[in-house]
Amino acid sequence: MAKVIIFGVLDTAELAHYYLTHDSADEVVAFTVNREYLKETEFKGLPVVAFEEVETIFPPQEFKFFAPMTGRKMNKNREKVYLDAKAKGYEFISYISSKATVFNNPIGENCFILEDNTIQPFTTIGNNVVLWSGNHIGHHGQIKDHVFFTSHVVLSGHCVVDSYSFFGVNSTIRDYLHIGEGTLVAMSASVTKSTEPWGVYMGSPAEKKPIPSHKVY
Ligand SMILES: CC(C)(COP(=O)(O)OP(=O)(O)OC[C@H]1O[C@@H](n2cnc3c(N)ncnc32)[C@H](O)[C@@H]1OP(=O)(O)O)[C@@H](O)C(=O)NCCC(=O)NCCS
Repeated sequence: MAKVIIFGVLDTAELAHYYLTHDSADEVVAFTVNREYLKETEFKGLPVVAFEEVETIFPPQEFKFFAPMTGRKMNKNREKVYLDAKAKGYEFISYISSKATVFNNPIGENCFILEDNTIQPFTTIGNNVVLWSGNHIGHHGQIKDHVFFTSHVVLSGHCVVDSYSFFGVNSTIRDYLHIGEGTLVAMSASVTKSTEPWGVYMGSPAEKKPIPSHKVY
């Protein structure tokens, strides 16, 4: 059992608190936000402290960290907090719902894996990956770091997903594809070919659209 500090005080942090409290052996002991966002000193009956000094109040030797944030800026915001907390010396937990189906898959740190995800055998998940509810993650796949799956995505077997990619709701990926770094797959898109880095893919069959992904998310 770890004593955990959660980054944030908005919806995702509140959800993380709920999931850890009701469905894990870990204990949430505090929240932290950047000082400029520190409006309240208490949330869910627990202290909220400035991220800039969190390590002096909750030393990394005694406490673990969890930053289950959104995919904004193509996961770069979450990556920054993850790396900053790592530089302070924290180790991270990952949350894997008891209602997810997993098969001893290697899963990295600071992952947030919600209910009804199926991760089939021989698929690996990197660090700082979010699988919101209800995705099918096919067998013999590789999901690298800082990736975000929203909900009801079908990633077929043998796919490699490079870092920073984002999958909109109900998107579908054919088997054996390589999803290039920072790919944004739009909601309901049907991806039939491997993707180029930092492209936005929409439609069925999905086509690359001239929308810079960093402007959208
Ligand atoms: C692809 C996406 C990022 C584009 O966002 P955007 O740049 O704000 O696009 P807009 O909503 O302004 O739409 C621009 C055009 O693309 C079309 N479009 C938007 N999303 C589309 C999609 N998924 N498939 C096909 N066309 C789409 C719009 O109808 C609009 O067409 P128009 O110019 O003919 O009116 C967004 O639509 C998307 O799919 N986001 C993922 C949402 C999601 O999964 N959320 C889950 C909760 S986290």
